[in-house]
Amino acid sequence: MKADDVLIEHHGVLRSLLTRIASMPGSDGERRRLLDELIDELNIHTKIEEQLFYPAARAVSRLVDISFAEHRQLDDQVAVVLRTPIESERFDEEFRALRAGVEEHAGEEERIMFPECRALGEAELEALGGRLQRRLEQLRRSKVARALIVLKRETLRRV
Ligand SMILES: [Fe+2]
Ligand SMILES: [Fe+2]
Repeated sequence: MKADDVLIEHHGVLRSLLTRIASMPGSDGERRRLLDELIDELNIHTKIEEQLFYPAARAVSRLVDISFAEHRQLDDQVAVVLRTPIESERFDEEFRALRAGVEEHAGEEERIMFPECRALGEAELEALGGRLQRRLEQLRRSKVARALIVLKRETLRRV
């Protein structure tokens, strides 16, 4: 699978989690679980883009620096959401802002950066796609990687 397709597919995972969480009632246990899943998948997504995709994209897209900055902005929004009690009214407001931020960022990648990256050529995009998929699976499955991801989430929640 080509790198842009791997990332678009993963945007789909993020979008579907965002939609499900938004449509759920206040402090349902399932909603908390999905929120944790979203935060962790978002963490994994920015990691694989920053470690593997953006360095390659830099050669053909001017959006890379902006995208790094947008990831930091999303990190801040994630921290705010994690520190807002899920049953509070403010949570929905903060969650809407995070959702809009993710939508805007992912949409920009899909409309501008990924088409620009076609200039890397099919073979390079396929090879890069394989590396993205392997790293994605590794981050999801490795015990050490998982522990670090959960630690980051829970640290943010308590700060
Ligand atoms: Fe991104
Ligand atoms: Fe992305």
